[in-house]
Amino acid sequence: MLYLLLLTQPLLGLLQTGARGQPVDFYFLIRLPNVIGIDRPLARQLHDLHALTANALLILIGLHAAAALFSPLHPPRRRAGGDAAGALAADAETDCTAGRIGASLAETNSERPGRWRP
Ligand code: HEM
Repeated sequence: MLYLLLLTQPLLGLLQTGARGQPVDFYFLIRLPNVIGIDRPLARQLHDLHALTANALLILIGLHAAAALFSPLHPPRRRAGGDAAGALAADAETDCTAGRIGASLAETNSERPGRWRP
């Protein structure tokens, strides 16, 4: 959904600008062709849609960032000496993916102490 909106937002912006009859310069290098005729009522509708998707994007980006922050994989916990696997293994009790990966990494590392193998 996030990717879909990220894709449609600039397209809506382009269409809206075209429907207004305004030119779009791409980094002052080339002028993009107007793919849509001048149409004031359509421009207004496209503007409303553009504003709606912009707000939806803001909400989705916020939720996305919150989900990442509260994910069990974040923050990457490290112990003194860089024993990230051991720290992740502590998560094993919660039976999450990070915990299982951590547990197996800690097991592998314990065979070769002092060496971190991803
Ligand atoms: C990810 C990309 C974009 C985002 C997040 C974005 C966001 C917004 C927002 C929040 C507004 C204000 C809406 C309002 O009036 O309430 C706006 C207005 C507008 N955007 Fe975009 N936009 C994007 C890309 C584009 C592109 C690529 C174009 C044109 C090439 C464009 C053209 C316009 C125009 C013409 C307006 C109306 C400005 C005015 O009311 O005078 N946008 N955009």
